[in-house]
Amino acid sequence: MSLLEIEDLRVTFTTADGDVNAVNGLSLNIDKGETLAIVGESGSGKSQTAFAAMGLLAKNGRATGQAWFDGQDLLAMNTHQLNKIRSKDMAMIFQDPMTSLNPYLRVSDQMAEVLMLHQGLSKSAAVTEAVRMLDAVRIPDARARITMFPHEFSGGMRQRIMIAMSLLCQPRLLIADEPTTALDVTVQAQIMQLLGDIRQEFGTAIILITHDLGIVAGFCDRTLVMYGGQIMEEGPTNDIFSDPSHPYTSGLLQAVPRLDKETAELATIAGEPPDMSRLPAGCPFSPRCAQVLDNCTAERPSLEVTPDRRRACHLPVQEVA
Ligand SMILES: Nc1ncnc2c1ncn2[C@@H]1O[C@H](COP(=O)(O)OP(=O)(O)O)[C@@H](O)[C@H]1O
Ligand SMILES: [Mg+2]
Repeated sequence: MSLLEIEDLRVTFTTADGDVNAVNGLSLNIDKGETLAIVGESGSGKSQTAFAAMGLLAKNGRATGQAWFDGQDLLAMNTHQLNKIRSKDMAMIFQDPMTSLNPYLRVSDQMAEVLMLHQGLSKSAAVTEAVRMLDAVRIPDARARITMFPHEFSGGMRQRIMIAMSLLCQPRLLIADEPTTALDVTVQAQIMQLLGDIRQEFGTAIILITHDLGIVAGFCDRTLVMYGGQIMEEGPTNDIFSDPSHPYTSGLLQAVPRLDKETAELATIAGEPPDMSRLPAGCPFSPRCAQVLDNCTAERPSLEVTPDRRRACHLPVQEVA
């Protein structure tokens, strides 16, 4: 059994302008210690997929389908049951560390609180453990600096602190939602390095959510490409990069800066992401697809599954540019 298994997930928001279909029948799984990337442009339903699994949907949202963590039915849980699983078994980190850090509490107090609550440690044992975790995320001089307030740290250091917080109870799954998007390139690389080290050190499975395909290579075992709340394709990361089987993936790859190419050559995909309250009848990407066929606008392609890949596209795989 997979660590996390999501089956036919749908997330719908009720709004004054009608229903917003943010996730439309998405299935995925991740095993112990594995890394999975979920990539796609902004608005493709990546975060809502994670929020649904973590029980963090906004009030006007509802999820249907199934989400199992280690055999436990996440969508059927009440807040109390979810709180037991969250942070202890599965944790999530966000683009903005201040969404998880309390600005008014010293780092030592907020980290210790988690351990006292979930693991019943005494305050001093909890602080010792917290220092150990700050060391693990490479905060220099952690023992002295742990009594500082979050605002006393730089953005990159705050991101490290949030990662340390999320790891305190040694979750088996860490969902990192755009963890480096707000950081400059050098710090981005350091945080990705850190996430890689954490995987090595603790065997944590990681779902990395990002709009930036560039940070996925060399980090994730598998990559799932999402658009319009649906899977476009999924496969081993190396194969997705060397041999994309969906025109949307090809488009994303052309927009990834490469060291061996001039930045001026970067192509972006023409057009806008879809309005999730008025998704086209066929493939959601069809209005922007450079290789669109007649039936693409009429009929939603079904998900073809082969042993290590999945794709939803009417175009024969060998014709994908
Ligand atoms: N509370 C909400 N009410 C209505 N629509 C929402 C709400 N939250 C998110 N959405 C919509 O859900 C869609 C998917 O969002 P999201 O999963 O956050 O995208 P991303 O791939 O950028 O993470 C977007 O169109 C967004 O506007
Ligand atoms: Mg998002």
